[in-house]
Amino acid sequence: QKLKIGLIPADGIGQEVIPAARAAIEALGSEIPKPEFVDLAAGFELFSASGEALPEETVQALKDCDCALFGAVSSPVNKVAGYSSPIVALRKRLDLYANVRPVISVAANPEDKPDIDLVVVRENTECLYVKQETMSIGEHGKEARATRLITERASHRIGKMAFEIALGRPRKQVTVIHKSNVLSVTDGLFRDTVRAVPRVVGDGRYDSVKIEEQIVDSAVYRLFREPQIYDVMVAPNLYGDIISDAAAALVGSLGLVPSVNAGDNFVMGEPVHGSAPDIAGRGIANPLASIRSAALMLRHLGYAAAADKMDKAVDQVIREGQVLTPDLGGKSKTTEVLDAVLKRL
Ligand code: NAI
Ligand code: MG
Repeated sequence: QKLKIGLIPADGIGQEVIPAARAAIEALGSEIPKPEFVDLAAGFELFSASGEALPEETVQALKDCDCALFGAVSSPVNKVAGYSSPIVALRKRLDLYANVRPVISVAANPEDKPDIDLVVVRENTECLYVKQETMSIGEHGKEARATRLITERASHRIGKMAFEIALGRPRKQVTVIHKSNVLSVTDGLFRDTVRAVPRVVGDGRYDSVKIEEQIVDSAVYRLFREPQIYDVMVAPNLYGDIISDAAAALVGSLGLVPSVNAGDNFVMGEPVHGSAPDIAGRGIANPLASIRSAALMLRHLGYAAAADKMDKAVDQVIREGQVLTPDLGGKSKTTEVLDAVLKRL
């Protein structure tokens, strides 16, 4: 048995950090089936060279993989005819409806808030991001409108994902984020559907999970005041987008924060950061977000022991504080940080 992993480094530092994640996976032992890597192309640089940002071969090859790791894409500063983001397209093509982002504090950064260990589970296909916007002229001038779509189906599956993730965590607590005091129809449907997941799924599967809810604005307030109260936060697309970036800001460098894009049949790890053109090609990109994304991908596939091992190795390197890239105040190169992780694996 093999574990077939698609690798899409794409642009900028993606080319430096995805190979590091690959090496970390290769250093695992019998915790996972023997990994087989498939190198795949996508990105803005590819588009500039070939006119295609996401070749069909890449999508088809991914359908034959068990999972994938994506680096980062650059977006053109001005709109370029024919270009659209391959990561957005991939989420659609592979039906990756959840964006899952754990945020964990480690003792590396003295400014970090302590004891943060939460996961933001963001719905990734609807809400205001259906991009149905119109402009008209009303009595007092221009009027812009946007449609916000919330469906029971999407709310149920993201809720179920949140409950499943909570089951694998010590505190087993899900907080539904919404604004149903104002948007009672849309956010009301989201909240009620997520709350109903244990009943709809049935057979007591989620009996051990505690469910709470919070209005989004007070959730942000409490996230900054007492982030340790949160375990799994589940939210519609827009609130989830904002909360996940805000939560990431509580734990220091973007170079540390991992994510996965997940659906029912596929999972793709992706560091939260972008292509970092300011440091690309200099060998100083922090590989830890990508290594953690690989761990998260494996955890999602059920290889918890492998994921724990990788996370522990990363945490140790950060805690010891001897081998860190410049974004964490260190002087080390990408390869040196990778070597430190490999040694602990
Ligand atoms: P960015 O995340 O690329 O960089 C922001 C800052 O953080 C930069 O100073 C960068 O050097 C630093 N940084 C990011 N990752 C790092 C790492 N692993 N190690 C050390 N330092 C790191 O965001 P920015 O500059 O706003 O965007 C650059 C490009 O990336 C743009 O074209 C943007 O559209 C794209 N982008 C792509 C994303 C994706 O692929 N999902 C997400 C965010 C931005
Ligand atoms: Mg964002």
